[in-house]
Amino acid sequence: MSSTPARPERRVTVRRLLEMKVAGEKIAVLTAYDVLFARLVDEAGMDIVLVGDSAGQVVAGHDSTLPVTLEDMIYHGRAVRRGVRRAMVVVDMPFMTFQVSPEETLRNAGRLLKETGAEAVKLEGGDEHAVLHVRALVRAGIPVMGHVGLTPQSVHALGGYRVQGRETEAADRLREDAARLEAAGAFSVVLELVPGPLAGVISRSLAIPTIGIGAGPETDGQVLVLPDMLGLNEGFQPRFLRRFGELGAAARKALADYAVAVRSGQYPGPEHTVE
Ligand code: KIV
Repeated sequence: MSSTPARPERRVTVRRLLEMKVAGEKIAVLTAYDVLFARLVDEAGMDIVLVGDSAGQVVAGHDSTLPVTLEDMIYHGRAVRRGVRRAMVVVDMPFMTFQVSPEETLRNAGRLLKETGAEAVKLEGGDEHAVLHVRALVRAGIPVMGHVGLTPQSVHALGGYRVQGRETEAADRLREDAARLEAAGAFSVVLELVPGPLAGVISRSLAIPTIGIGAGPETDGQVLVLPDMLGLNEGFQPRFLRRFGELGAAARKALADYAVAVRSGQYPGPEHTVE
């Protein structure tokens, strides 16, 4: 038997993600916001852990991602980074941290990378203005994941959380935005709530991987919001979401059992009591 210690699995890099696209290997992505779930997500073999600004909704209880701050993302990003060994960690740039000027975008993305230890940032939008910011980041050596389709930070401009790219003109705009992000140097792009066939067309037209959410099976990878897919966000059941667990129900039962045990004096028992 060899005494050589097992080499830790290699970290997922931008280069590895591009190789996966070429090889036709699907990329598995999930969000996380704290160290406990980040560890579970990483140990389950996810390729990317996204510290999403969906934290504003699923952690903080806001009804949109708009109130999320850079400090919030730094807090969540740091916690997640401590739990991840293999996956790439990508942190969302929150609303109004990448819109004002490329200089401010750079400063904010720099803080996210320096203060969390994440490898990349994600920002929403792919129009001419958005890619100015993407280019500035890429020039500074900061890997950028794009995000088009339903961009939740623009919920008010879009008139709600609705499917994007159904009409020909909107579909053309989406294709152009995705191509523009690739040309600006983004290493990947999220396609959110886009008709499946359109997501397929965009995915096949790009050399960089697409990561879909509510965009059908033809993207290069998939992402879901962790509490949604674990059944912890019980009221949220859009058509695209498959629940892979029912942790809400499990937690509810454990909590009720605890209350009964405390009230009945069954807990703590002698085995939980220090002499
Ligand atoms: O904030 C988030 O969790 C996201 C995913 C839905 C892609 O942007």
